[in-house]
Amino acid sequence: MTVAERILRTDSADDARAAFARDAIAGLSQKQKTLPPKYFYDERGSKLFEEITRTPEYYPTRTELGILEREGRNIAEHVPAGAALVEFGSGSSAKIRALLSALDKLQVYVPVDISPEFLEAEAVSLEKDFPHLSVQPVVADFTRAFALPAAALKRPRAGFFPGSTIGNFEPREAGKFLRHAAKILGAGSVFVVGVDLVKDENLLNAAYNDAAGVTAAFNLNLLARMNRELGANFDLDAFSHRAFFNRRLSRIEMHLLSRASQRVSIGGRDFSFSLGETIHTECSCKYSLQSFAALAANSGWSVLQGWTDERQLFSVHALARD
Ligand code: SAH
Ligand code: AVI
Repeated sequence: MTVAERILRTDSADDARAAFARDAIAGLSQKQKTLPPKYFYDERGSKLFEEITRTPEYYPTRTELGILEREGRNIAEHVPAGAALVEFGSGSSAKIRALLSALDKLQVYVPVDISPEFLEAEAVSLEKDFPHLSVQPVVADFTRAFALPAAALKRPRAGFFPGSTIGNFEPREAGKFLRHAAKILGAGSVFVVGVDLVKDENLLNAAYNDAAGVTAAFNLNLLARMNRELGANFDLDAFSHRAFFNRRLSRIEMHLLSRASQRVSIGGRDFSFSLGETIHTECSCKYSLQSFAALAANSGWSVLQGWTDERQLFSVHALARD
């Protein structure tokens, strides 16, 4: 079977678009207008995210890759021989590549992503580079129930959630997700999670306000995506990117700020924006080693081991199911 034939899809394209329309209308109907960050990742958004990871200001990707490369053998010790590893939000699969030479006993890799952008090409390329590995991609929203491929069901399972994508949930939702992942991965599983750490505010603010404007383009693409897919009529020049560290809530917030008083229509529904009003598009929560361990402990997991870089910018944790 070719990789394309093997890709599991939870929703049809029509169902996915209907869910996008429902979530957009619900989010824009709130007092603080909001949109779920999972909708950043259409084809263009996924490419823009990759571009963000290459900006000099965005330290998380290169810092986490450094930890995975340095600690690969130690991390791999927590993954049972013959296991299937499920990656939540695999994107371009760059992180698993950094671990695969250490994970030489892994048999099945299941990249799960809401965006099919990289799944097929990466699966072909990984199977070529690691011939002992079977790659079984799944297109799904990982916050909802989804079926694992048969090849993963009959093996011990491990989870991988790099990138600090867990930070894009508010803490209560992050706890819910950790419980949900525990069910998917099953009894006795291990979960390797990458978590961005609280640090100097200037470094944080710079990482989400890169000088080349790639993060701004990523944020504004959400409006362009609503125009393309939901027939909305956002004027992209009438909104601007805002990102700042909210110390009280220990999170970066990204917003789209209305530069005028204006009305926008989405699928026949009208929304008004006052000058300076924002749409809250993303939280990127930053943890300490202690606050993340407490979150895991309250959500069905305990920390087996953790690793950081020299500057304590980023952390990787091996969690075991209670
Ligand atoms: N793991 C990669 C990519 C992180 S970007 C890295 O560490 O660099 C976040 C990834 O998660 C994107 O590929 C995005 O499409 C995916 N994603 C975000 N929300 C998702 C959801 N609810 N369900 C499935 N995938 C999701
Ligand atoms: C995927 N996620 C962890 C990124 C983050 O840093 O919160 C998404 C991102 N948003 C702006 N830049 C990068």
